[in-house]
Amino acid sequence: MNEPRGVIVTGGTGGLGQAVVAAFLAAGDRIAVPWIAEAEARRVRERFASPLADGRLLLVETDIAEADGAAALLAAAGDVSVVVNGAGGFAGGAHAETELTVWDQLYRVNVRTVAAMCRAALPGLLARGHGAIVNIGATAAVEPPGGLGAYVASKAAVVAFTRSLAREVPPGIRVNAVLPSTIDTPANRAAMPDADFSRWTRPEQIADTIVWLASDAASAVRGALVPV
Ligand SMILES: NC(=O)c1ccc[n+]([C@@H]2O[C@H](COP(=O)([O-])OP(=O)(O)OC[C@H]3O[C@@H](n4cnc5c(N)ncnc54)[C@H](OP(=O)(O)O)[C@@H]3O)[C@@H](O)[C@H]2O)c1
Repeated sequence: MNEPRGVIVTGGTGGLGQAVVAAFLAAGDRIAVPWIAEAEARRVRERFASPLADGRLLLVETDIAEADGAAALLAAAGDVSVVVNGAGGFAGGAHAETELTVWDQLYRVNVRTVAAMCRAALPGLLARGHGAIVNIGATAAVEPPGGLGAYVASKAAVVAFTRSLAREVPPGIRVNAVLPSTIDTPANRAAMPDADFSRWTRPEQIADTIVWLASDAASAVRGALVPV
């Protein structure tokens, strides 16, 4: 078996992120996850208690929208070759009724987190000349519906940044994004109880795609935006 890879999964305490953590653990990797909300971190600690995580899961209290917070996560994680930028947030509403503070919040949680984490991780990835970054966009960023202006603009920034960074770094460092539509998470079920959940994508399906994009099996895939 290969040496475990060092993997950062931001948003790893969230609805999608927990499935991503589970998938990388199953692949034999070491995972570092930042957290802010104590309750979420506790749930993850309980879910991945030994023997599954087997000491391979590290939870770090840090705000990765800040340069210092992202650097602290990287320092705690050690040698990292994969970064999954899954931290994110959502808000909707008609533009005329959306305060500009919502734009700031969504930019911070969806864009600044990705920018800060990539900035912290890139020197190490460039030094080793090999690695993968997988960002989480949204289908709505490329097929925007009405009523989601601030959200789709923030995710469109993630999409554009993904493509730009993919062209900036050497070919050994692959930067790609997945674009989920509605994910079958507990939060979405609570928010839309009358929806047909069978039409939503399961977190595990997206996690499998992310693990594949981070693997050598996807060694020719760079700058891809993969709808999931
Ligand atoms: N859910 C959907 O239907 C859907 C659809 C399309 C795209 N997406 C995208 O998929 C990703 C995951 O969605 P989700 O529904 O799983 O989200 P979620 O359950 O709300 O989880 C978001 C995660 O991001 C973390 N986070 C946010 N800001 C952070 C910061 N500054 N520093 C550290 N951690 C931070 C949160 O940690 P704490 O809890 O500790 O604060 C939480 O673990 C997001 O990027 C989202 O935009 C989701």
